[in-house]
Amino acid sequence: MRMPVNPRLFLIVIVSIGLAFPSAVFAHIGHKVEHNHPFPTKKFSVRNGKVVYAKFCASCHGNEGKGDGPAAASLNPRPSDFLHLKYMSMRSRVDHYDAIANGRPNTSMSPWKNTLSDKEIWDVIAYIEHLFNHRWDVSSKVTEELSH
Ligand code: HEC
Repeated sequence: MRMPVNPRLFLIVIVSIGLAFPSAVFAHIGHKVEHNHPFPTKKFSVRNGKVVYAKFCASCHGNEGKGDGPAAASLNPRPSDFLHLKYMSMRSRVDHYDAIANGRPNTSMSPWKNTLSDKEIWDVIAYIEHLFNHRWDVSSKVTEELSH
């Protein structure tokens, strides 16, 4: 099969753009990771993620994920807005996992790894993604990773 673009030239162009605009390239890589990184299980529960979210996260991050829960106003920094397109496209599932499991130092985002199981963390990540793009049917008990 013929490559439509000379791969070496493509690489040179990408590297030069990277040198000129590092943040743009990192954002792009983050975006790719978010969409390509598979969940560790092919099946997870967005429905359970919703339950976890309502119980532990909505007070700060808001019911819709806008970062505007009842506790948010008094916090500095403010809880992340999961509907923010630019922000979300820069975060991968692995970033989210890390933030949820280990918390964010010097913020009110505390580590959840002693409260939530690994599976619950992935479920709640799926629900955060769902808030962002309404990708999954929350009413079904088990969701399967879609191929895209
Ligand atoms: C007490 C308030 C509070 C609660 C409860 C809370 N968070 Fe957060 N969360 C924050 C704040 C504040 C930040 C922003 C930290 C920062 O700016 O670095 C944050 C950041 C995050 C981030 C993104 C970090 C990043 O910048 O990539 C994720 C993902 C997240 N929270 C998920 C959750 C989940 C899931 C729960 C429930 C299990 C939860 N949070 C509960 C306050 C909270």
